[in-house]
Amino acid sequence: MFDLTGRVAVVTGGTGALGAAFVRGLAGAGADVAILARRPEPLAALAAELQGAGRRALGIAADVLDKARLSAAAEQIVAYLGRVDILVNAAGGNQPEATVMPSERTFFDLPAEALSHVLNLNWLSSVLAAQVFGRYMAAQGSGSIINISSMAAFTPLTRVIAYASAKAALNNFTQWLAVYMAREHSPHIRVNAIAPGFFLGDQNRFLLIEPESGALTERGQQIIAHTPMGRFGAPEDLIGALIWLASDAARFVTGVVVPIDGGFSAYSGV
Ligand SMILES: NC(=O)c1ccc[n+]([C@@H]2O[C@H](COP(=O)([O-])OP(=O)(O)OC[C@H]3O[C@@H](n4cnc5c(N)ncnc54)[C@H](O)[C@@H]3O)[C@@H](O)[C@H]2O)c1
Repeated sequence: MFDLTGRVAVVTGGTGALGAAFVRGLAGAGADVAILARRPEPLAALAAELQGAGRRALGIAADVLDKARLSAAAEQIVAYLGRVDILVNAAGGNQPEATVMPSERTFFDLPAEALSHVLNLNWLSSVLAAQVFGRYMAAQGSGSIINISSMAAFTPLTRVIAYASAKAALNNFTQWLAVYMAREHSPHIRVNAIAPGFFLGDQNRFLLIEPESGALTERGQQIIAHTPMGRFGAPEDLIGALIWLASDAARFVTGVVVPIDGGFSAYSGV
């Protein structure tokens, strides 16, 4: 039920803190994997690692906001790996310039360019990738698209205004596309999302860890205090849900957003 042997997965942002774990998890379940990210060196290293483990793998440097580049990547993937069964939209993240930092930048000062970049990186990139790779799924009548949302989507987190808005829009788009694909193309094309809780990565380290002492920031302490399981997540914590959503085990599941958060979204704090 959970076996992905013979399936081809595409992971955008596949060299990131969570993205690389997604790539390894899908390959471990049997899938061949195409990895899309910006920088060529980590891409080549990860693709070589998968090939060493006996999978077919392809690393392609592509900006997920460039639809023409995504289309060219899709042609390359289909030419080399034959099809596209699974799309994981993991490219995303926040930017310091789009973040309220009380000592440096209030809400009133946030530059429009930074706000729209974060909106685009988290929402538009997933829409563009779903257009490009979803077309192949529509033609073959099957597929699984998995968007990567966030806790910020359900109740906005302080400071990260554009990121929270973008992830809320991504949840809405997940439901929209689930309905569209099932009704207009095939009930065997499913669209879901995973909403990770708090995982340390390059995009949020500056908010959670003091650079000099390595101690938790006040925000980091608040997160741990509001996570009933009492810790940050490890990327591997997401893999079970990812494989479930990607595989036939979730064949009647579409349009859902699954929190993987150690209980954060269930806890009012009281
Ligand atoms: N780390 C967390 O705690 C956390 C929590 C909730 C949600 N998320 C979400 O999970 C996803 C992955 O996060 P992560 O921690 O692995 O991030 P990361 O910053 O470690 O990696 C981001 C990846 O996206 C790629 N990328 C960024 N901009 C790109 C672009 N324009 N074109 C192509 N690739 C681009 C990078 O090359 C990298 O591979 C993101 O959507 C993030 O918002 C992360």
